Amino acid sequence: MPHDDKGSHWHEPTADKMAGLGKFARPAMPYDQFMESEGVPIYRDIGVRTVLDLPMKPWKRLGGRGSYIQLFGTEGLWGMYVVEVPPGGALNIEHHVYEKIVLVVEGRGSTEVWQEGNSKKQHFEWQKGSLFSIPINAYHRFVNATNSPAILLCGTSAPNMFNLLDNPKFIFECPFDFTDRYSGAADYFTPQDDIAPDPVRGLAMKKTNLVPDVINCELPLDNRRSPGYRRIEPHMAGNRFYLWVGQHETGRYSKAHKHASAAILVCLKGKGYTYTWPEALGTRPWEAGKADQVRRQDYELGGIVSAAPMSGDWFHQHFGVSKDPLRLSAWFGPNNSTSRKPGRPGEQITDRGAIDIKKGGGAIPYHEEDPHLRAEFEATLAKEGAQSRMDARWYDEATAGIDQPKDLF
Ligand SMILES: [Fe+2]
Repeated sequence: MPHDDKGSHWHEPTADKMAGLGKFARPAMPYDQFMESEGVPIYRDIGVRTVLDLPMKPWKRLGGRGSYIQLFGTEGLWGMYVVEVPPGGALNIEHHVYEKIVLVVEGRGSTEVWQEGNSKKQHFEWQKGSLFSIPINAYHRFVNATNSPAILLCGTSAPNMFNLLDNPKFIFECPFDFTDRYSGAADYFTPQDDIAPDPVRGLAMKKTNLVPDVINCELPLDNRRSPGYRRIEPHMAGNRFYLWVGQHETGRYSKAHKHASAAILVCLKGKGYTYTWPEALGTRPWEAGKADQVRRQDYELGGIVSAAPMSGDWFHQHFGVSKDPLRLSAWFGPNNSTSRKPGRPGEQITDRGAIDIKKGGGAIPYHEEDPHLRAEFEATLAKEGAQSRMDARWYDEATAGIDQPKDLF
C-alpha cells in the first residue's frame, strides 16, 4: 500500500525491503505538545544574541508575555522560557512539580513564596542580575511595582516531568509539600555568602537560594580552565538542576571539540561567540569551502548558546572577545552529560572532549584547526582593544604541548 500522510498503516515488508518507513518526522513528545498548547512562540535554534530579542506573545497561564526556548541538544533534558512581568503588574500564582531557576535579565521586582495551606508568605526583592530558585511545588508570584517591564529567564525540569508523566493536571495541581526542599524558614531567601567546599572535588560551592547580583558579585579564583578563571557553584533550593557561574579572562579560546550536549551557556558579562559544525565537514571547514554550513552564535548579556549543540557529533568552539572578562553561567538541568555515561557508579570516566582526535578523543588541536579561526579571533580582539594571549607555539605540532591551557569550556 502506498504511504500517504492521512492515516497510519502497516508498511509491509517485501522480499528486499524491511517493514516500516525509512524516514519519518521526529515525534512530538508530551512536553512539545504542552508547549504548543500554550499559544506562545517556541524558539528552537543553537542560541540567541540576547533573549531580549525574542518575540513574546501573551501567555494566558502565566499572565504576562513570553516565549518558550528549546535550544538544539537540550530536547527532553530540560527547558527554558523567557517571560515579562508587566510594569505595575504581576504574573499569575503558580506552583508546579518541577524545579525552576530564574535569572533577572532586566528590571526590578519581587517574589512571594509560600506553601499550600500556609498563609505566611515569604517575600524577597530582585533586580537585573539576580539569580534565584523557586522550590519545587512551592506557590509563588512575581510582582513588578516599577513602571518598566521586568524580563525573567527561567530554566526548568518541566520537560523531564511532562515526558515521564504526561499529565499537566498532576504537575500543576499536586498538593504535596516538599518540606525537604523548602522548610519555610525565615532566612530561606537570605543570600548566603559563605563558601562551602564541594565534598567530591573540593571546588568552591555556595548553598544559597538567592544570589542578588550574579553579574557583578565576587567570584572565587579557580584557575582550572585558564589562568585567572573564577568560578562558583550555587546550590539552590535542594535542586537536582545543576549550574555554575564562571568567568574567563579573554584573549584565549578553547580547542574545537565534540561531546554530548546538556548545558546552555548564559552570558552574564562581556561578549563572545560560538562556532559549531557537523563532524562530517572535517576539522577545517573554511579551508574546505564549507563555511556556509558552519553555524555561528554571538552573545552578550542575556545571550544564550547550546554549549554542545546537536547530539554529540558537532564540533563546537567558544570564543570570548570582549576587553572585559567573559562571565557565563552554565545551566545543565537535572541530567548533565556525566550522569548519562553508561557504567556502574564509581567507574572511571574519560573526558573524550578534552583528548585530541588523533589520540581517539574529540578535540581538534590548535595546530590542526582551520587557520580562519585564529585570524578572525585576533582581528576581533584587536577591534575590541583586547590582546590575544594565544601562544604561537601551540599552532606548531612540535611545540604544541608547551604551556598549553586546558580546554576552556
Ligand atoms: Fe564543549
